[in-house]
Amino acid sequence: MQIFIDTANVEEIKEAVSWGCVSGATTNPKIMSLEKAGYSFQEKIKEIIGIVKNPVSVEVTAEDFEGMVNEAREYASWDENIVIKIPMGKIGLKAVNVLEKEGIKTNVTAIMAINQAILAALSGASYASIFYGRVCDMGYDAFEVIKKTKELFRLHQVPTKIIVGSIRTLLDINRAFLAGADIVTVPFKFLKMMTENLQTEATVREFNDIWKEMKDKGAIRIESKERPFSTSLRQAQGKKSRTALSFVKR
Ligand code: E4P
Repeated sequence: MQIFIDTANVEEIKEAVSWGCVSGATTNPKIMSLEKAGYSFQEKIKEIIGIVKNPVSVEVTAEDFEGMVNEAREYASWDENIVIKIPMGKIGLKAVNVLEKEGIKTNVTAIMAINQAILAALSGASYASIFYGRVCDMGYDAFEVIKKTKELFRLHQVPTKIIVGSIRTLLDINRAFLAGADIVTVPFKFLKMMTENLQTEATVREFNDIWKEMKDKGAIRIESKERPFSTSLRQAQGKKSRTALSFVKR
């Protein structure tokens, strides 16, 4: 189970990666268009790779076979973590077949049906991206599409990983994983929402208010020879902390 971030915004990527739960990123031409105009595409992608240090999907925009393959080779030459996003279709599958044989990883994108996922896998794609929100827009159940695709891949020991994108709600993320997605690629807005819960906030507030009250009343004494940050560093390194908490019996 992995989460990728579905954005090209460097600040969002930096923040999400710092949480330690993001294992890759996905972009597409529409996502790239949301960034402030005037940037260099290559530099932006390299900057993202430098932060993510894991697979980053970059989509080709050529619509003919030669153009697709050339664009893919060019992007792949920028960094070994680049995965080439190829739109599902006859020309796309042909390009995937050639690129994967050259050792270039591909992600077949805009998959809306099980049949398409089967073809993506058989053409040798490393990833198959099923678009949750857009499948639902057509009146189909994206959960079933993902679940059945996963069952088929498992049954036939297909190594292609299922990425689920086009996330529109928090529930889509949970359901995509429950259906068997290997990876869900999540826009930053929803990643942030995943960390938040009003009841969590209220609970932590309650606990910390009690703690502060105890300290203010002198009901607890906290002795620390180290600054809190170095204490947590020591703990992360498995060393015994010299911080001592002692409760004063009243
Ligand atoms: C996934 O790889 C795509 O970048 C993305 O999730 C597409 O989602 P959309 O339906 O919001 O355009």
